[in-house]
Amino acid sequence: MQIDWESLRATALDVMSRAYAPYSNFRVGAAALVDDGRVVSGCNVENAAYGVGLCAECGLISDLIAGGGGRLVAFTCVGGEGEVITPCGRCRQLLFEHGGNDLTMETPAGILTLKEMLPQAFGPDNLGP
Ligand code: THU
Repeated sequence: MQIDWESLRATALDVMSRAYAPYSNFRVGAAALVDDGRVVSGCNVENAAYGVGLCAECGLISDLIAGGGGRLVAFTCVGGEGEVITPCGRCRQLLFEHGGNDLTMETPAGILTLKEMLPQAFGPDNLGP
């Protein structure tokens, strides 16, 4: 599948502009292509109880599941200046559940696979049949 990274990044940039980040002032927008052609996205949503804030990827996964599920094929994530950033460790795990090792990711170091960003990931296969 051909990935239009510019378009995906534009979606991430758009949703980033609606982030709720009054505590860190660090807005994040994430967007991903699904294997059926859908594009899903999310922004970070902070909370006065700091620890319960939601990363942008949480919203993206919710968008994926609420929209019918599917497998993530390509992912990008931007910060408040539109710069490409990498997902935190927890969010790499969220992405692994729905994209697996082959999910392609735009990073500051170029296009990498999730396997490269989260080696030897623990996932559904580890739980057995
Ligand atoms: N953040 C994300 O939304 N995704 C990440 O992968 C990294 C961190 C958010 C959480 C918090 O609202 C802000 O960025 C600063 O950490």
